[in-house]
Amino acid sequence: MLSLMRTQVGIIGAGPAGLLLSHLLHLRGISSVVLEKRSREYVERRVRAGVLEQGTVDTLAEAGVGERMLREGLPHHGIELRYGGAGHRIAFERLVPGRAITVYGQQEVVKDLIAARLAAGGEIRFEVPDVAVHDLDTDTPSITFQGERLECDFIAGCDGFHGVSRRSIPEGALTVYDRTYPFAWLGILAKVKPSTEELIYAYNDEGFALHSMRGPEISRFYLQVPPDASLDDWPDERIWAELKNRLETVPGFELATGPILEKGITPMRSFVAEPMRYGRLFLAGDAAHIVPPTGAKGLNLAAADVRVLAEAIGHWYETGSADLLDRYSEVCLKRVWRAQHFSWWMTTLLHTFDTDDAYGRRLQRSYLDYVTSSEAAATTLAENYVGIPFEPFGSLGA
Ligand code: FAD
Ligand code: DHB
Repeated sequence: MLSLMRTQVGIIGAGPAGLLLSHLLHLRGISSVVLEKRSREYVERRVRAGVLEQGTVDTLAEAGVGERMLREGLPHHGIELRYGGAGHRIAFERLVPGRAITVYGQQEVVKDLIAARLAAGGEIRFEVPDVAVHDLDTDTPSITFQGERLECDFIAGCDGFHGVSRRSIPEGALTVYDRTYPFAWLGILAKVKPSTEELIYAYNDEGFALHSMRGPEISRFYLQVPPDASLDDWPDERIWAELKNRLETVPGFELATGPILEKGITPMRSFVAEPMRYGRLFLAGDAAHIVPPTGAKGLNLAAADVRVLAEAIGHWYETGSADLLDRYSEVCLKRVWRAQHFSWWMTTLLHTFDTDDAYGRRLQRSYLDYVTSSEAAATTLAENYVGIPFEPFGSLGA
């Protein structure tokens, strides 16, 4: 016999999408329960993205969960594109005045959101196995797990790319668009002072490298590696040697090294499932779409989705109208596809493709020269990188 619980919105997944949605709903007086497969320690330690767009920063700050981010996060007003023996700065302050990014680790956002939910009496259930969704095409959907049934008005599938939500939608109801890339990213976190003040995106014949950071004493790096690379092939000395090889390409730049705290390999993929809804199940974040990390968009798209979803659900409770819920997918997909294109474009511009012929390399160099010399092309990069402003949706932005 299943024990019964009830909430207004059942949320699957305690990543940035699920947690922020739960918080935004709470601010509107709407109850939710978050069900997470992993432990609290695990989700708080999972090292992933680090670049927050202006709109994500504003959303977190306006929602009252941005205090530590505003104190400890690193505002950046530009990035460097490094290639052909020189660095070229894309200057956000000139190209997109008033808009910038903040470097603040995803797991810090997750910690802040968990703390805020728990302080407000919110319910997050960790280490919940065997989540299943039911009756999605009725007004009374529910979620079962471990001998319990959670009845709700809506289910938010915020359980990432490998979650159960999207897979529970009947075949044929979704259209999938995807692309895989012939490389992966090896990411490390290292206890060493960053060797740069701003992020460096480095293009080389040997492959792409990225120098990022998390604070005054912590650096984050990524290396393009073959798609089947294993961490066993990448002892620390090899990682540092390759980072030096790909980043020490301008006169006078020396890369500081230090102990490696964490290593991981991330496959590169573009993926969109449309529509982002089936009946009373709404998909948000990586559950609905994946981008290669080159444009730093994954986490920001997750935040943008749930901002729209919280408003649409709020509108339904306030007015009984499903108008905004019916537009949820279409509104989100507009931003999603812009980010898909930008992430694919940045990836294509900056990586070495196995199949690349000399012609392809010349095209990359030509576009890099264009983007670093034309104000129009640089503005295109800058406005996408800091994030396209939110469009008014319902009362949002009004
Ligand atoms: P997630 O953060 O994936 O959260 C989903 C949550 O659902 C997880 O906590 C998961 O444990 C839980 N879950 C899954 N299945 C179930 C289930 N059946 N039941 C209950 N809970 C479940 N983006 C960048 O911009 N830069 C990067 O460097 C970068 N690195 C990444 C590295 C990795 C390994 C991955 C996977 C992603 C990376 N991303 C990066 C993308 C970015 O981190 C994601 O876009 C972001 O996490 C999306 O947030 P989300 O809440 O939608 O999904
Ligand atoms: C980071 C990750 C990215 O994908 C990116 O494009 C820039 C920075 C980071 O983890 O710091």
